[in-house]
Amino acid sequence: MAESPMRVGIIGAGWIAEKCAITLNGLEGIDCYAIASRSQKKADAFAQKWGVQKAYGSYSELIHDKQVNLVYVATPHSHHYEVTRQAILEGKPCLVEKAFMANHRQSQDIVQLARERHVFIAEAIWTRYQPAVQIIRQLIADNRIGTPRLITATLGYSMGDKPRIMRPDLCGGALLDLGVYAINFVRMFCDSAIENIESQCVKSDTGMDLSNAISLRLANGALANVQSSACCVGDNIGVIAGTDGNLIIDNINNPQNIRVSTHDRVFVEDIPVPQQITGYEYQFISCKEALAQGLLEPIQMPLEETLYIMQLMDELRAKWGVVYPYD
Ligand SMILES: NC(=O)c1ccc[n+]([C@@H]2O[C@H](COP(=O)([O-])OP(=O)(O)OC[C@H]3O[C@@H](n4cnc5c(N)ncnc54)[C@H](OP(=O)(O)O)[C@@H]3O)[C@@H](O)[C@H]2O)c1
Repeated sequence: MAESPMRVGIIGAGWIAEKCAITLNGLEGIDCYAIASRSQKKADAFAQKWGVQKAYGSYSELIHDKQVNLVYVATPHSHHYEVTRQAILEGKPCLVEKAFMANHRQSQDIVQLARERHVFIAEAIWTRYQPAVQIIRQLIADNRIGTPRLITATLGYSMGDKPRIMRPDLCGGALLDLGVYAINFVRMFCDSAIENIESQCVKSDTGMDLSNAISLRLANGALANVQSSACCVGDNIGVIAGTDGNLIIDNINNPQNIRVSTHDRVFVEDIPVPQQITGYEYQFISCKEALAQGLLEPIQMPLEETLYIMQLMDELRAKWGVVYPYD
């Protein structure tokens, strides 16, 4: 008998929802089953455009649809908490876009609730689930670059004055939107405690961080410098520099190529990643596999790691005076 597909219900018919509908339409065994918007008209248009079976004019209708196996929360950060909470109370597994919640307190509440109710929950930080992660970890484990000593990563997009970035009530700023990838880049490839953090940011008139630079000293003797910006076009490159060579990852937001160089910066090889639909497919596949195994969180992004990074981002925002109404 054919295995039944996982039916995904998307909440919030915005930019990333479209990207994920395209992705799911290219996947076997996972259906883009339902879309929910605050507007029925918008949900209908989305459903028609992407061939989605069900279109709901409210988020709670989708959450109450018994056919939905995974709720994918694609609203601004400010609205992740309420939607996810409702879904967990209904017993629905959730994949929640990054940044997971507005802050650490909300994140802890949600993780605790999910654990109490035995409901699966995952952060949709897509880079964590991509094949590049294992490729890079293996290169380091195989001692191709010696001991990593310096990690640098930039992520910058010129995003104009998008309300989601500029408004405190939507949890704006570059850190939660882009910096989260740069921090994850360090955490994925350098498994060592953070001993010290120095940072600074430039803010918008609305008090959100438009650009930030963060320097992390790690317990194993490595140093990481990461920066993110919502107001310029970054190179979006990550570099892991070791005692005997380096890896250049282009780009940290969806790696396509890993360049390996040895001592004296002698180029050895370019390693492309496997062909992908969009790169978003891996997070959905991971959820499906985890659910089939009865897990309550994905292997690739443990909830403790999500909580750790949310706490780190709280500390950075507190230092910069970037405040949300939910803090
Ligand atoms: N993984 C990635 O590569 C990636 C890329 C971009 C964004 N993201 C993440 O995805 C989430 C959404 O980002 P996006 O770029 O898709 O944003 P977006 O285009 O603004 O869409 C967000 C959607 O959320 C819903 N929403 C609910 N309450 C809202 C409110 N008060 N104001 C505005 N929208 C509201 C709206 O859908 P309805 O009107 O249909 O209800 C809106 O279309 C964020 O967490 C973001 O960090 C991830």
